[in-house]
Amino acid sequence: MTAGRPAPEGNAAVRTFKARRGRLSATQRTALEVLGPGVDLPAGPLDALEVFGRVAPLVLEVGPGFGHAALAYAAAHAAHDVVAIDVHTRGVAHLVATVASTGPPNLRVVEGDAVELLAERLAPGSLAAVHLFFPDPWPKRAHHGRRFVRPDVVDLVAGRLRPGGSLLVATDHCGYAKQARAVLGAHPALRGGTCPRPPWRPVAGYEAKALAAGRPVLELRYTRTGRDSGAVSPTNAAANSSRPTTT
Ligand SMILES: C[S@@+](CC[C@H](N)C(=O)[O-])C[C@H]1O[C@@H](n2cnc3c(N)ncnc32)[C@H](O)[C@@H]1O
Repeated sequence: MTAGRPAPEGNAAVRTFKARRGRLSATQRTALEVLGPGVDLPAGPLDALEVFGRVAPLVLEVGPGFGHAALAYAAAHAAHDVVAIDVHTRGVAHLVATVASTGPPNLRVVEGDAVELLAERLAPGSLAAVHLFFPDPWPKRAHHGRRFVRPDVVDLVAGRLRPGGSLLVATDHCGYAKQARAVLGAHPALRGGTCPRPPWRPVAGYEAKALAAGRPVLELRYTRTGRDSGAVSPTNAAANSSRPTTT
């Protein structure tokens, strides 16, 4: 937390998603009800040791959709642990079924609101990275305040990142890109800008659609500085200092 400012709890009341009431197939319902409990998180604050059986760099992917990036990242980074959270029930059911049948073992899947997870269940300074790939663009001006990359949510994310931890954002929406650069660039505990496309991310989902339509993709990486040390306990800071940088 930045000195002199209120606790960074985001504003979950201004939702970054539209509630969708799509019907689930029997297979999707089974995936969620039967397989879900084996690959999701127990209720309450996240205890990495209990969930993963170890304490490793923890990466949160917000809005994985059908999970191509989360699956690829977790498979390519066996020494990291990954939590992927989405409100899109069908995407979550698909990802749950995949993880339950073939892994990888370092990936957990949650159906829910990432803002609530960040605010209520993740400790300050506990994340090595947050991945936000092709967030809902909310193109109408009246809806710009619903974008995930907005000041209150970015402050929350910055507080949950350990010093040296990064927020990765990719978007094909130029209005979103402009807002993201402005909001992230203005945060006192974040430094960064454009970056190369992560080599481990498969071209799939919304990125594939964007490229097929000829829209360029902007990649951003903002890293948390050590200045805002109030959000990180001495224990976390010591543990974090020996961990590798997440990409
Ligand atoms: C445009 S889709 C992109 C999906 C995927 N990342 C891809 O690139 O194909 C954005 C996703 O973010 C999810 N989302 C939006 N706000 C969210 C939130 N607060 N918590 C969890 N998921 C969220 C939506 O449900 C949706 O699945």
